[in-house]
Amino acid sequence: MTSGTIFVLIGSCALIHAALLESLTHSGHPELRKDKNSADGFVFTIDDQAKFSFTQGVKTWLQSAPAFLYTEGKRFSAEDGSLKLDHKATESGADKMGTWTSQCFVYMAGSRSWKLCAKSWSSPAWPLVVFQQHFINGTALSAHDTDSVISGFPSFQIPPEDIGLGYLSFQGGMFGGTRFVTGRWTKGGGILSGGTEGGPVAVFDQNGGVCIMAPFSEFMSASREMDEKWRVNWGVMGGVVSVPTGFTQQTVVYCGNTGINQVFSDWGKFMRTYYNKEDIYRKTDLTVNYLGYYTDNGAYYYDLTEPNKTYEQTILDLKEYTDSIQVPFRYIQYDAWFYYRGQLGGTVLWKARPDIAPHGLQYIFNQTQWPVAAHNMYWSAKTPYAKENGGKYNFIVESEKAIPQDLTFWVDLFKQARLWGLVMYEQDYMDWEFSMMNATQSTVDVAKTWLMQMGQAARATGLTIQYCMSNPRHAMQSLEIPAVTQARVSGDYHPGNDQWQIGEASIFADAMGIAPWKDNFWTVTDQPGNRYHQSEPYPELEAAVSTLSSGPVGPSNMLVHTNVSLLMQCCRADGLILKPSKPATAVDRQFWQAVWNNSVGPSGQVWTTYSRVGHDLYFGIILAADISADFKLTPSDAGFQFFNPKTVITRSAQGVKDTQLSDFGDNTPIQLTTACTRQDFCMYYTSPVFTVGSGKTKIIIYGEEHKFVPMSRGRVSNIDITDNDVTVTLQGTSGENIIFTYFYDGQMIRRPCTFDHTGIAKLRLGYYHSSNDRV
Ligand SMILES: *[C@@H]1O[C@H](CO)[C@@H](O)[C@H](O)[C@H]1NC(C)=O
Ligand SMILES: *[C@@H]1O[C@H](CO)[C@@H](O)[C@H](O)[C@H]1NC(C)=O
Ligand SMILES: *[C@@H]1O[C@H](CO)[C@@H](O)[C@H](O)[C@H]1NC(C)=O
Ligand SMILES: *[C@@H]1O[C@H](CO)[C@@H](O)[C@H](O)[C@H]1NC(C)=O
Ligand SMILES: *[C@@H]1O[C@H](CO)[C@@H](O)[C@H](O)[C@H]1NC(C)=O
Ligand SMILES: *[C@@H]1O[C@H](CO)[C@@H](O)[C@H](O)[C@H]1NC(C)=O
Repeated sequence: MTSGTIFVLIGSCALIHAALLESLTHSGHPELRKDKNSADGFVFTIDDQAKFSFTQGVKTWLQSAPAFLYTEGKRFSAEDGSLKLDHKATESGADKMGTWTSQCFVYMAGSRSWKLCAKSWSSPAWPLVVFQQHFINGTALSAHDTDSVISGFPSFQIPPEDIGLGYLSFQGGMFGGTRFVTGRWTKGGGILSGGTEGGPVAVFDQNGGVCIMAPFSEFMSASREMDEKWRVNWGVMGGVVSVPTGFTQQTVVYCGNTGINQVFSDWGKFMRTYYNKEDIYRKTDLTVNYLGYYTDNGAYYYDLTEPNKTYEQTILDLKEYTDSIQVPFRYIQYDAWFYYRGQLGGTVLWKARPDIAPHGLQYIFNQTQWPVAAHNMYWSAKTPYAKENGGKYNFIVESEKAIPQDLTFWVDLFKQARLWGLVMYEQDYMDWEFSMMNATQSTVDVAKTWLMQMGQAARATGLTIQYCMSNPRHAMQSLEIPAVTQARVSGDYHPGNDQWQIGEASIFADAMGIAPWKDNFWTVTDQPGNRYHQSEPYPELEAAVSTLSSGPVGPSNMLVHTNVSLLMQCCRADGLILKPSKPATAVDRQFWQAVWNNSVGPSGQVWTTYSRVGHDLYFGIILAADISADFKLTPSDAGFQFFNPKTVITRSAQGVKDTQLSDFGDNTPIQLTTACTRQDFCMYYTSPVFTVGSGKTKIIIYGEEHKFVPMSRGRVSNIDITDNDVTVTLQGTSGENIIFTYFYDGQMIRRPCTFDHTGIAKLRLGYYHSSNDRV
């Protein structure tokens, strides 16, 4: 613990205190690891008037603007002196993250006391500062404008000149993916959405420097605004009428020098540790780990059955058919078509209508044995569950919509649904439920209570939750809700739309510990009689992206129109998805290119991920699609510097044709070209080079060529390396046939392998004449 990262400097003109911060960040390793210099050079300075900045060398990255607060119908600001500094205090203590120190400033807004603090940890020295607003006397008559904030601290002044910094902002629906933007961090460099849509913002340069700004607590009532003075203000959302006494709002600034992907990953790890967000629910969620069949918007059977059949009959047919073609769907998703909705949309009764399932959903479950993922939307004001409408449960009912405020309601609802097979509850329209009600936006706690109770009930009844149409606020609230395992990160799939571009939003999802969900897709271009009158031109890309997401894989084809060989590139014969170890995410240089358009990065989609197999062996994966200009990609551009691959295997979209083995290094980059399209996207795989036989023989492992992730922990449970050989331990299902491929001194060897009843196979990777069957 000796390396310096963020220095905290406190003082007016003279610096009166300097604390050395160290970082527990790492460069690309999935577990937290101390690494030198990861945030080196970032300095946080705060003076005795609470003016502060984040600098690196001579460059000011973030410059404060004055704090302000709305209460008693007035705006109190440090700028015009109406917010009066009463006194200053230094506080210190220890919490689960270590020992911390806060520089606090107690202001008076009229007769109300408002304490602002900048908190940093010194041991260990995390590369971050948490800004706190303590509402010692609460507020009254604060509501201002829903798209703004009622309090600002920290506030940052966007610089008038272009100082070479770019920004990215997660904002809008679908985990901040639908209105994600990048631009230059300067006046006129673009507009950040405020109010209900805003989320984390990161500023970055072209050297790997990054500072992330984001809410740190009370996620449902935290907002940001960009005001007419080009300031970004963080605080309590603008609609809140009164902040309760004792309420605290916090915002974090987290800086690092290891690039956008890595700093987001480190920040996320800090947040998940702080909030005890365990990954056990995600790791054991059937719907995240196994292939499922989807009927949501974009699906063939979205609000559509087979001709003259009920949904019940259609689902039974699907089960029979998919069994006959041996596609291992392990669950089914029911969308909004199954329950009772009101005139303005909105759920009235969340149970199956008799026209959908004449014998009930339990009958379908008994027949198919398919566990169920089921959709729900916002609640109608007419819902009979609410006491207002004669029901048993506490809801807040407004003119159109209602929102539950009752743990028992959720427990009862979920217990009932367990009887018809529910394993995953999909909460859709989260943004509408929030932004189209008054109670959610005018209080600090109604929306939080809604989500916390839903999550608590899910946990109690053994369900997991998928968020859909979530804003960044819902996304971040999931840090406190262990049962939320997955979330949609892009708009609804419709055949042929470019909704597959999830490489950016997946960075935020992964930071929050959430498996990104691409949405359903078709594996066959033409689906006769489909309600969209569209076709899917890129089924391979859809299948590849779904698999690389590390989230659910959920095709949605018409009966008899599934491309089995394509689909099964995702999975084992038992439906276990062969995933990488983390979601594939867009490389840093893709963001740099988006901001500066100076050929510093690829134009198009370049995403990377890896599988970590056995004892710390890394197998890198690169996807390039829709490339509009040639670009040379090095291992460090791919985020692979920490495992330093030396070789790369190139495959074409069609799988096994044209497989090539090449060197991969700073001087031997991958040449991405405009030949990497959506139709013929490019995929590259890296392997360690194993040397055996006294260094005479080089073995390079490809794995299963017929899978999008040829080396996955779901298949390869161990790799044993001795002086003489390399042995892989494989897992599969009884009777499953696979071909395992490797290079033995440059020669490609394809070894067939069949699993017996144990489901385990060991392969020694040697030279085999007989089975060297070149395809
Ligand atoms: C504000 O809170 C402090 C501390 O609890 C209390 O002593 C003071 O009376 C309160 N002031 C008002 C105006 O409520
Ligand atoms: C469905 O029912 C209608 C009316 O009974 C009938 O005209 C039609 O031929 C049926 N379609 C199919 C595909 O069976
Ligand atoms: C489903 O199976 C369970 C357990 O065998 C049984 O108790 C229940 O009655 C069945 N329900 C229907 C609708 O068939
Ligand atoms: C919105 O809710 C706040 C308190 O939560 C209340 O004071 C206000 O009257 C409500 N506004 C409307 C239009 O219902
Ligand atoms: C199924 O997918 C494979 C691999 O992508 C492709 O070669 C084949 O043409 C597809 N078949 C159909 C019927 O779409
Ligand atoms: C990016 O730069 C190229 C070449 O200088 C130019 O043709 C293109 O219009 C630019 N694109 C954007 C989005 O600025």
